[in-house]
Amino acid sequence: MRAEIAAFFEARQDEYISGEQLSEVFQVSRTAIWKHIRQLKLQGYEFESTTGKGYRLTARPQRLDMHEIMQALHSSRFHHIQYMPTVDSTQTPIHRLALEGAEEGTIVLAEEQTGGRGRMGRSWHSPAGKGLWFTMLLRPNISLPFTPQLTLLCAVALASAIERTCPVKVGIKWPNDLLIDGKKVSGILLESSAEDERLRYIAAGIGISVNLQMEDFDPALRERATSLRMASGAIVKREELFVAFIRSFEQYYALYLHNGFEPIRLLWEAMSITLGKEIDVRTAGSVRRVQALSLDASGALVVKNESGQEERLFSGEVRLLDEHHAAGNGQD
Ligand code: BTN
Repeated sequence: MRAEIAAFFEARQDEYISGEQLSEVFQVSRTAIWKHIRQLKLQGYEFESTTGKGYRLTARPQRLDMHEIMQALHSSRFHHIQYMPTVDSTQTPIHRLALEGAEEGTIVLAEEQTGGRGRMGRSWHSPAGKGLWFTMLLRPNISLPFTPQLTLLCAVALASAIERTCPVKVGIKWPNDLLIDGKKVSGILLESSAEDERLRYIAAGIGISVNLQMEDFDPALRERATSLRMASGAIVKREELFVAFIRSFEQYYALYLHNGFEPIRLLWEAMSITLGKEIDVRTAGSVRRVQALSLDASGALVVKNESGQEERLFSGEVRLLDEHHAAGNGQD
């Protein structure tokens, strides 16, 4: 009930809503409404109240409620979560923790990143209180060439967690961009450390543009970036989305460790918006138009090239022809 009352206010920003109206809508007494509003204030919501007009929502909580996350999580693998109000990039502390011997499943979750990093040396815009910016430490017992499979696994877990939390349709663009209506909403950065061809650990960084509004994005990004709030029209509870992601990731990760890549490959194919399409592939300075066919057993993208031959792509940048040039979150 309290969450519904908050959502009711959030959908009517700048409007005054009277106690009477609220008690009618929610079918409870005005005293009950008043108690809920008092609780919402304790959670960080701010209301202006004016006699004769009612309440107006002026601010909502910005900080992630770590207590709520830990209460909801119940994860045996991901229980060590370090919250940082601000950090350059969550990748940095994870690399340090990994070298200090931190256990698999350690997560650094930041409210804000001042130097968020994207793939291909790009930056990742990570304003305070608006998104989910975190890195997970993974130590899977797999050989180095298989690590890109973890990127695809992250994408599958992310897409399903987002769709379970929010009424949007997410598509995965190979290898790991999550798009809504052709605009990028989330990105994955996997950095691995190896010694003598042996994988030591993976820093799996995830960025989700959750509650950013158009004006939060740099004008240069507005055409090709979106947020869950912009796409769904409603504020998304970051705690809920984070917990949904960890649950989903934990489940797919266990599946992967026990049964290998095949189930993940099938899930990825089902959520892909790349397959079956003509795409532009950018490699080493040249752009070629090919047709995306499937994902192979190793996670490489199988394409049909200009001469009708099949090729495998292991890394690189693809652009869908109907896409809003999504890259970075997305910087080009
Ligand atoms: C991309 O699509 O280019 C990848 C973006 C990855 C962004 C996340 S946010 C959390 C983690 N910390 C970073 O600096 N980058 C990743």
